[in-house]
Amino acid sequence: MADAATLASAIRARAGDAPVRLGLILGSGLGHLAHAVDGVAIPYADLPGFPHVGVSGHNPNLHVGLLEGVRVAVFGAREHYYESGNPRAMLLPLQVLRELGAGELILTNAAGSMRPEVGPGEVMLLSDHINYSGLNPLIGEKTDARFVPMTDAHDPGLRAGLKAAAARQGLPLPEGVYCWYSGPSFETPAEIRMLKLLGGDAVGMSTVPEVILARFLGLKVAAISTITNMAAGMSDERISHEHTKAMAPLGAAKLERILREFLRSLRQGA
Ligand code: HPA
Repeated sequence: MADAATLASAIRARAGDAPVRLGLILGSGLGHLAHAVDGVAIPYADLPGFPHVGVSGHNPNLHVGLLEGVRVAVFGAREHYYESGNPRAMLLPLQVLRELGAGELILTNAAGSMRPEVGPGEVMLLSDHINYSGLNPLIGEKTDARFVPMTDAHDPGLRAGLKAAAARQGLPLPEGVYCWYSGPSFETPAEIRMLKLLGGDAVGMSTVPEVILARFLGLKVAAISTITNMAAGMSDERISHEHTKAMAPLGAAKLERILREFLRSLRQGA
């Protein structure tokens, strides 16, 4: 397997040497935003050690270039824990992101809502998370760097910037606590009742391992969920992956407006 420095120089050879400012990982049904990047798209298959993403509705390319004038690296897809049982699958891609110069990472995902007033098509900024899976991508790390503090893991500065961007766009951006449930089966209604008692607002099958890995690597990180459904037992709709893919574009349009506005503010140094 290639190391991160080798992969980063291979990427620079195709995408140019200018440092990347920010990374973006796109969730289910959100992959199209990557095509707005003015730059190059490098298939994960060309990057040894990058995940073989096998989930439909994802775009397994790394797009490096300009979005709203900011140099970004957009991961069109992530590997989920449920694909191969590896919570560290995104470690190498995030090491590469850091090698490319990025200091900040924004994660997106599709999630179920446990808050009745935040329904399908809405977006939710993660204020914090509950790692309900019990898994940790840093298990096996050998140095004391593995003892990563997780207070303010969801970076207050990035969150303030995203909230301000949403407000300028006239879009509500409620904050909530995301629960990582391993998947790939969805939750039972009883599990959702439990997660609500524990303080959860949204539930999904991703994001938490990448938040932990990002903090381990010293990247500032924030995450936004697009709500595709009410969590199990909270409405009569049938929860399915097809439904997730069909509903993601509703929130994706709002998410794109918020992210573009946020990037414009970065470019202007706001
Ligand atoms: N649960 C878990 N993951 C999800 C959901 C859900 O309800 N909706 C979209 N991804």
